[in-house]
Amino acid sequence: MGRGTTPIESALRGRIPYGNDINPLSKALTKPRINPPSLNEIISRLSEIPWSQFKSIKNKKLLTFYHSKTLAQIEGLRLWLKKRKIQGKMDQIDCWIKMVAINRLTGHSPGFFSVYTLPPNQAVSIKSQKKINKKKQ
Ligand SMILES: C[S@@+](CC[C@H](N)C(=O)[O-])C[C@H]1O[C@@H](n2cnc3c(N)ncnc32)[C@H](O)[C@@H]1O
Repeated sequence: MGRGTTPIESALRGRIPYGNDINPLSKALTKPRINPPSLNEIISRLSEIPWSQFKSIKNKKLLTFYHSKTLAQIEGLRLWLKKRKIQGKMDQIDCWIKMVAINRLTGHSPGFFSVYTLPPNQAVSIKSQKKINKKKQ
């Protein structure tokens, strides 16, 4: 499936989409786009997430890739989604938010969460990212 181009296209054409991928991220990136929530549903759910409480950072190594405030929000959102899943509350709106967040993690166009990073298929080590950061200062 990869990012899901084929199953999504088949669903858009009224077919029953089937797909598989050895990478579990593939399902997280594909399934929410088969049955997207409305913009209002997304806006409303985003307003329920306690963003202002997301202040601590557990994985400090990732500060090479993200601003501290952004990393705190990413980690907070991750835990919030995990909790929703454990509580059996994870619905298509949460899955959509998770899909968008995963897609925004790395890359260097405006709108990505990270500093100037390479896309996932060209991901670099922390050491190499530090070199990129130095060049970009
Ligand atoms: C080039 S990508 C497919 C891109 C896709 N056509 C798209 O539009 O996004 C190839 C995919 O095959 C998956 N893959 C590789 N080996 C696999 C295997 N043995 N079983 C299932 N999926 C596999 C990879 O994880 C990767 O997501």
